[in-house]
Amino acid sequence: MKKRLLGSHGMQASVVAFGAWAIGGWKWGGSDADASVAAVRASLDAGVDFIDTAAVYGFGFSEEIVGKAIEGRAREEIILATKCGLRWDMETPTLHAESEGKRIFRTLEPASIRWEVEQSLKRLGTDYIDLYQTHWPDPETEIESVVDTFQSLKQEGLIRAWGLCNESPEQLAKAATLGELATDQERYSLLDREQDDANLPICEQNDLGFLCYSPIAQGLLTGNIDSRRQFAEGDLRNGNPRFSPAVLDALQAVLAPVKSLARDRGDSVEQLVLAWTLNQPGVSHVLVGTRDIDQAASNAQVGSIELDSDEMAMISQAAAAWPGFASFSD
Ligand SMILES: NC(=O)c1ccc[n+]([C@@H]2O[C@H](COP(=O)([O-])OP(=O)(O)OC[C@H]3O[C@@H](n4cnc5c(N)ncnc54)[C@H](OP(=O)(O)O)[C@@H]3O)[C@@H](O)[C@H]2O)c1
Repeated sequence: MKKRLLGSHGMQASVVAFGAWAIGGWKWGGSDADASVAAVRASLDAGVDFIDTAAVYGFGFSEEIVGKAIEGRAREEIILATKCGLRWDMETPTLHAESEGKRIFRTLEPASIRWEVEQSLKRLGTDYIDLYQTHWPDPETEIESVVDTFQSLKQEGLIRAWGLCNESPEQLAKAATLGELATDQERYSLLDREQDDANLPICEQNDLGFLCYSPIAQGLLTGNIDSRRQFAEGDLRNGNPRFSPAVLDALQAVLAPVKSLARDRGDSVEQLVLAWTLNQPGVSHVLVGTRDIDQAASNAQVGSIELDSDEMAMISQAAAAWPGFASFSD
């Protein structure tokens, strides 16, 4: 398993991280706690030492599952990342989303971050977080205040490093001048390349880790989802325009050469796509949502896949053939 730095202010972590959103159940049609614990443990056993969760995933449930899965393991061998800034237990001026009868609000006020870090530590069953991240920006709180709060938590030993998610290039560049910013986490995949000209160059210039979320486009890049696939009730892919029949058809054509390469190499499509993603300039880690032990074993293997220049070019050509999700909207 390859490891890379989480930026110059962070520590080493496996290039493949266990993405723990789906195991929280919320927005993914529920989850099975035992299968989820087994999936986390299988990932750790296969060499993945980096886990990305968030307080809001399953409203604390994902962090609890992760806490249970790492019980009895050597804590210093695991890089635990979680996020703050989305509250479902209080109201603030900024409504983020309404979902499953809950209203989720944004806040990065210092007192709220401090309360959240304590709650996450309890749920994770640990006394420090390796990488603490803002989940979404809070328009009511200046970035200077967020940086000050994170720097204080770091000095107090509650967190080892900190990062931002879903941030604008301007705020990201500013935060990098204000404190020891380690990472930026954004949506990035073969199908979602907006960050190539936005935050990725800023991460490269400032030695920040760049963590790709939804790197297999929530399953689309397995090449195995077609219009017959039924998603569970409450799964965000139900009725989602990114999973429309037109998108799925176009994707079959785009992925055909990757499928053929995967067959020749004896790998799977998503493994090649993830390995290609890890070779993009500025990208440091992929956070892959993993729900069971089979996915855990397969996703961990990506950490040792090498692609030669011809194979990289072939997948890049497939990526260039993708017209973009916007071209499918009415
Ligand atoms: N910062 C943020 O705002 C933010 C936002 C989104 C995600 N994230 C982070 O990024 C992580 C990953 O993103 P994501 O979960 O949205 O999407 P993803 O990693 O692109 O896709 C995950 C889904 O793909 C399927 N899958 C995974 N491995 C597979 C395999 N080997 N073979 C076949 N199918 C496989 C699973 O769904 P099925 O088995 O049900 O098909 C899984 O739930 C999250 O868990 C979270 O940690 C962060």
